Amino acid sequence: KKRIGVMTSGGDSQGMNGVVRSVVRTTIHMGCEAYAIYEGYDGLVQAGDLIKEMHWDDVRGYLSRGGTLIGTKRCMEFYERPGRLTAAKNMVEKGIDALIICGGDGSLTGADMFRAEWPGLLEELVSKGQLTRAQVEPYQHLNICGLVGSIDNDMSGTDATIGCYSSLERICEMVDAVFDTAASHKRGFVIEVMGRHCGWLALMASIATGADYVFIPEKPPSEGWEEEMCEIVTSHRKLGKRRTIIIISEGAQDTDLNKITADQVVKVLSDQLKLDTRKTVLGHTQRGGLPSFYDRWLSTLQGVEAVNAILDATPDTPSPVITIRENKIERSNLQECVALTKSVAEAIKQKDFNKAMQLRDVEFKE
Ligand code: F6P
Repeated sequence: KKRIGVMTSGGDSQGMNGVVRSVVRTTIHMGCEAYAIYEGYDGLVQAGDLIKEMHWDDVRGYLSRGGTLIGTKRCMEFYERPGRLTAAKNMVEKGIDALIICGGDGSLTGADMFRAEWPGLLEELVSKGQLTRAQVEPYQHLNICGLVGSIDNDMSGTDATIGCYSSLERICEMVDAVFDTAASHKRGFVIEVMGRHCGWLALMASIATGADYVFIPEKPPSEGWEEEMCEIVTSHRKLGKRRTIIIISEGAQDTDLNKITADQVVKVLSDQLKLDTRKTVLGHTQRGGLPSFYDRWLSTLQGVEAVNAILDATPDTPSPVITIRENKIERSNLQECVALTKSVAEAIKQKDFNKAMQLRDVEFKE
């Protein structure tokens, strides 16, 4: 019976538990055995209780829970070859030669490298006498499949990452709440949202809440943005708005790639418009809590597809990542999606912001 391991890695996101549930149950349904790797890659390296067989009932109730119930960790040991060697040994001893990983592009790249190194790792284990040739013989190939779990929606090649819509919903709810108190006091609020190098959350939230101004990393404001922002805010106030909402992505920057902070924006509004302005950092409230309907649905369907991709894989199949494009769940080439994601970061570094937006597949009009 094939044994498939499932793990969550990197920052948690809503819907990761849905992935684990879907993978475990589909694996069992397909006549295979499912294993949860607890605490991300750390579980592979430490093994012991951190690699556990999962039965149908073990994932009951997972679908509606936030965070990741099997834990996650940024594991430094796995980044070094000795850590990966131990991980390979643990996997062979547990009889696991297929991994489904839900995480961001870094976690998925790590998995693909592990797969590429796998035969060499097994050879080294045999040559060091840590495993016998007979032990490694049935496990010549490692199959992996990625699922993108991230609230940031920062992976190219997929329309949505698992968690991004739950997070967006939370942000909208929070902005609405701030909206009420802002209007009561006729205040301004600068609300910082997550998104590291990706402005998707900020951009979508600003549209969905009718914010007055937005800062994102991919479309930095041109020089003199302070005056432009103040003019817009003043004109909105003249129209009768009792509050000002500015949304800023945590990765916001100017065209010279200098970080623009929420504090800086607060100061501009306070100093130039004498507007009573506060800052609200939504922080990790955006990452926890209930997954939305969409993330329950997406994680379930993508989990099924991931198991099918593992079962269909041959030694020559490039590692897949499960994506969604125009509402269709698809298998995409993991390396290509990661490369595309990296080229967005590169375009931003080169200050080619239009190219970055194109690569992100977002139409942005002045
Ligand atoms: O999950 C992605 C993300 O939310 C980024 O937007 C943010 O910069 C980062 O994770 C913060 O993660 P942590 O607090 O776990 O380091």
